Amino acid sequence: MDKLLLIDDEADVQYSFRRIFDQPEIELTTADSGEEGLKLIPRLKPDLVIMDVRMGGISGLETLRRLRALDAKQMVIMMTAYGTTQTAIEAMKLGAYDYLLKPFDVPRLKQIVLNALKAARDMRQVVSYQPLLESEDYDLGIVGRSEGMQNVFKIIGQLAGSNATALITGESGTGKELVARAIYHHSQRNAQTFLAINCAAIPENLLESELFGHEKGAFTGAAAQRIGKFEQCHHGTIFLDEIGDMTLSTQAKILRVLQSGAFERVGGNQPIQVNVRVIAATHKPLEQAVAAREFREDLFYRLNVVRLHIPPLRERRDDIPLLVNYFLKKFAQAQGRAPKSILPAAAELLERFHWPGNVRELENAVQRATVMAKGDVILPGDLPAEISSLPAAAPDKPGPALAAAAGAPAGGGGALDWAALGRTLFQWARQEGKLKVLPAVERELIIQALLETKGNQVQAAKLLGITRATLRKRVEKFKIKQELAIQ
Ligand SMILES: Nc1ncnc2c1ncn2[C@@H]1O[C@H](COP(=O)(O)OP(=O)(O)OP(=O)(O)O)[C@@H](O)[C@H]1O
Ligand SMILES: [Mg+2]
Repeated sequence: MDKLLLIDDEADVQYSFRRIFDQPEIELTTADSGEEGLKLIPRLKPDLVIMDVRMGGISGLETLRRLRALDAKQMVIMMTAYGTTQTAIEAMKLGAYDYLLKPFDVPRLKQIVLNALKAARDMRQVVSYQPLLESEDYDLGIVGRSEGMQNVFKIIGQLAGSNATALITGESGTGKELVARAIYHHSQRNAQTFLAINCAAIPENLLESELFGHEKGAFTGAAAQRIGKFEQCHHGTIFLDEIGDMTLSTQAKILRVLQSGAFERVGGNQPIQVNVRVIAATHKPLEQAVAAREFREDLFYRLNVVRLHIPPLRERRDDIPLLVNYFLKKFAQAQGRAPKSILPAAAELLERFHWPGNVRELENAVQRATVMAKGDVILPGDLPAEISSLPAAAPDKPGPALAAAAGAPAGGGGALDWAALGRTLFQWARQEGKLKVLPAVERELIIQALLETKGNQVQAAKLLGITRATLRKRVEKFKIKQELAIQ
């Protein structure tokens, strides 16, 4: 449950907030003045404070100033009437997360509140990187016992006393964001702001303004000055996610901030100096982007000072049982129930799957299975189809087992289940890390047809359902002739 504190002396505003946030995940408290709000906050520990700038008693800005002295991290959104954006800018400088213009647009209000709550969670949740399996912190840890993850933990530890820039790489869903938050929590800056920006999620033309702010009139639509994330994050930590998706011009600006801490707002010419620690992440191989001149080499080297590579899950299968247990407990806790257990056959399927979506996909699969399982035990059938349809065990010779998996009776004669056969072949190839599945299968089919027809290409082509010319081309391409020693 997220705790929201509204500080506003207008009864109307309090009333609309009660209506807008009348939902079970949100607990709304209201205060009529800055003084009352400041008294409430230490006890209430709200995830987010939304406060009007103009109130009876001390002003919103003064309240924010006093609040900052108590807690540098409290998430705050300021509300202000149209025409007073200068105050909003002041508020941003004092570390407000964002501001809202009154009268507010309800969808935008909700969006800003949701963003702020997510940012607040990022900051609050202590991400422990020692897998404390039995401890209370268990539900916030990064789980992993594999060598690859142990290396990651080691580097997080080494980074704890430093302000170095770090670059986190790894496929989608491997836990890059989690690791970034762990670095932040174990750094000396953990009492300051942490802001995460997904560079791929923000339209190219808006990213610079999001990061560096803009001056009034900098571009069409820039009706007022805006403070960017770097300025907001002064003394804090900024997490630049999907950094491979930035334009060269934004890259140049980032490089300058990294080198000298300076930048200008878009459309401005006054240099602004900040002290921000940068943690970057990408799922793209940046070396390739550098070679293709899509990513600045100098920025790459600047970011790459400390590199944390998170291996894909299929390369650290020994982490799978730990993760499964962890997610079972996590979902059980969220539902206030005892964790379900898992049938060894189902656990074994999870350990063998190739997990293209990595830990995120595993997490989703376990969650789904928890919901699907009718009793206390998760069965293979409760898992997503692509996992439960994995062949029963990985045999050395796919022959009879493959036929069985495809639904063909051992003695032949039954109808072949092509869909199952295709699925099985595909999964097999994926498990072996084969990339070109189709040519591999095609080659084997052609060899079989030629063997059966003793090298008669006309008959073989007929069996395969292709023309003789096509067959001849394939035989050449796959270099089948030498192998079968046929003419
Ligand atoms: N080692 C781990 N232990 C526990 N949970 C993990 C671990 N790795 C990833 N997760 C969970 O998996 C999900 C995906 O992780 P995260 O968002 O950090 O991945 P990502 O690498 O940033 O992915 P993407 O590239 O898609 O943004 C999250 O819910 C995260 O909590
Ligand atoms: Mg991510």
